[in-house]
Amino acid sequence: MGLTDEELLGLYIGGLLHDIGKIIVPETILTEPGKLSDIEWEMIKSHPEVGYNQILKDTDFPWPVAEMTLHHHERLDGSGYPDGLEGDQLTTEVRILGAVDVVEAMSTRRPYRKARTKERTLNVIKEGKGNKFDPEVVEVLIDMIEEGEVEFG
Ligand SMILES: [Fe+2]
Repeated sequence: MGLTDEELLGLYIGGLLHDIGKIIVPETILTEPGKLSDIEWEMIKSHPEVGYNQILKDTDFPWPVAEMTLHHHERLDGSGYPDGLEGDQLTTEVRILGAVDVVEAMSTRRPYRKARTKERTLNVIKEGKGNKFDPEVVEVLIDMIEEGEVEFG
């Protein structure tokens, strides 16, 4: 997608740290097999802001790692959180991280569910192409999945 090696390194660091705010969520909630209560869900949804405000805001990485952390659940159509950003308000890094995060989450087993199949994951990103997810990012991800670069289960 035309990112420099330096930008890719920043994206990698953002990939490692973006969910760091989940450190405030009790493990019992993160691994809860049943339906979450509203309060539990609100606690999980606070993780981008916790990661930004309480951990990364004042770091001086040469990349927008704090911003990636704050906005990785934002979606192109404004349906994401915490700020309901839309369109051009989402940086390239945030667009990539947001879509990649969904593929990573679906392709791996979680304590409360099995890994999703390749087909189901492809359907989700294809359905989100251009509304939730950046179309160019989705195209790259589809190629990567179809070429076997993403492991499922
Ligand atoms: Fe997250």
